[in-house]
Amino acid sequence: MQKTITVTVNESVETHQVQSNQTLLNFLRETLDLTGAKEGCNEGECGACVVLLDGKAINSCMTLAVEVDGHQVTTIEGIGDVDRPHPIQQAFLKNQAVQCGFCTPGTILTAVSLLAENPNPNEQEVREALAGNLCRCTGYRQIIDSVLAAAAILPKGGGQ
Ligand code: FES
Ligand code: FES
Repeated sequence: MQKTITVTVNESVETHQVQSNQTLLNFLRETLDLTGAKEGCNEGECGACVVLLDGKAINSCMTLAVEVDGHQVTTIEGIGDVDRPHPIQQAFLKNQAVQCGFCTPGTILTAVSLLAENPNPNEQEVREALAGNLCRCTGYRQIIDSVLAAAAILPKGGGQ
């Protein structure tokens, strides 16, 4: 069954027909051509597909497109780019927290969500927030350091 949804994605209002069983991840990647959110496990275990729904990190593989009707979704494409990287992206580069990069969009969006809620996290809080974001490359030290470094320089009151 199809349904029409209207969702704001990275500040662009999008109205599309979706299948009732289409995931948000599939909608973003296939319908909107926003491929920053990655398809990893597709079962809520790896965090590669994390996007922000009304500012909170969620697994887009476990969310239906129909569920975001009327809401606001932010993907990594809406956070920053090569010319205007977000401070968390800058911190990841500076601390060499990116290797293959597959986990990076989801990890950064989880960090954005964390810092919006808790602008001064300690290391344990960063580790807990990122527990659902698996990285096979970095060993996590550089990722944790990057989030703490970004927290130290971001204006308080929001990580976005
Ligand atoms: S692809 Fe969504 S959690 Fe792994
Ligand atoms: S940088 Fe490769 S999985 Fe994290």
